[in-house]
Amino acid sequence: MKGHVSARQLSIRFEGRDGPVTALAPTDLDLKPGTFTALIGPSGCGKSTLMNAIGGFVPASSGSLTLDGEEITGPSEKVGVIFQQYALFPWFTALDNVRFGLKRFGLSRAEETARAMAALEEVGLTAHRDKYPQALSGGMKQRVAIARTFAFGPEVMLMDEPFGALDAQTRLIMHALLIRVWQKHKATVLFVTHDVDEALLLADHVHVMSAAPGRLIRQYDLPQSRPRTMRDAPELLDIREEIIGLLHPAAVSV
Ligand SMILES: Nc1ncnc2c1ncn2[C@@H]1O[C@H](COP(=O)(O)OP(=O)(O)OP(=O)(O)O)[C@@H](O)[C@H]1O
Ligand SMILES: [Mg+2]
Repeated sequence: MKGHVSARQLSIRFEGRDGPVTALAPTDLDLKPGTFTALIGPSGCGKSTLMNAIGGFVPASSGSLTLDGEEITGPSEKVGVIFQQYALFPWFTALDNVRFGLKRFGLSRAEETARAMAALEEVGLTAHRDKYPQALSGGMKQRVAIARTFAFGPEVMLMDEPFGALDAQTRLIMHALLIRVWQKHKATVLFVTHDVDEALLLADHVHVMSAAPGRLIRQYDLPQSRPRTMRDAPELLDIREEIIGLLHPAAVSV
């Protein structure tokens, strides 16, 4: 199975106004094919930077970063990306937004349409396919983004706080939907969140990063059961306390 991401002593520096800034301290990371990993850490610790490196948008400053054994040197059609901002084209309908994501694959127009329709159906948006983004709710826009990304069958799916702008109720719906779509496609998912509970309810593995310059400081393997609630997996409560302690060392846990 494809979609194995591996980092060895990967570090990333940017040229700041006052000299180089370390955005990611030397980090080892393994994302096994088909697994769902949540990444959590204080603001500015380098989560998006790590994600951008895996997406091929930011080069490694030192160390190595590979996908299926090959060094990542730039963006690839094997990797899909979903950000917190919806990143849909406002002048395209939902259907055309999904179809646009398939452009570079050399499909016939009929194939493009068929694949885009199937992807929209998977996220429950068939009835809304001719609407423009401005006529869609935040949750619906993010469903279009999910459809657009999964439609081309990426090996790796990078999600940077994808549900951060949604209300709690819509988030729950999106969690169930994401798990369903991911289980069908079995991409390797890296999911950045600030929400410990979201990480615990969605992921197979949770990686916690230190404050800037960030590196991975702790990894948790979670129970495989899904759908998952805090109630039926009490060991999650202990992990939750530990993660909150790591994120806010000075805070007294409640
Ligand atoms: N293109 C860039 N040029 C210079 N510095 C950058 C660049 N991108 C990120 N940084 C710096 O790298 C560090 C890590 O940023 P990053 O955006 O990866 O953090 P983050 O963990 O995603 O934060 P947040 O939780 O707020 O999204 C920060 O100090 C940031 O200012
Ligand atoms: Mg970020």
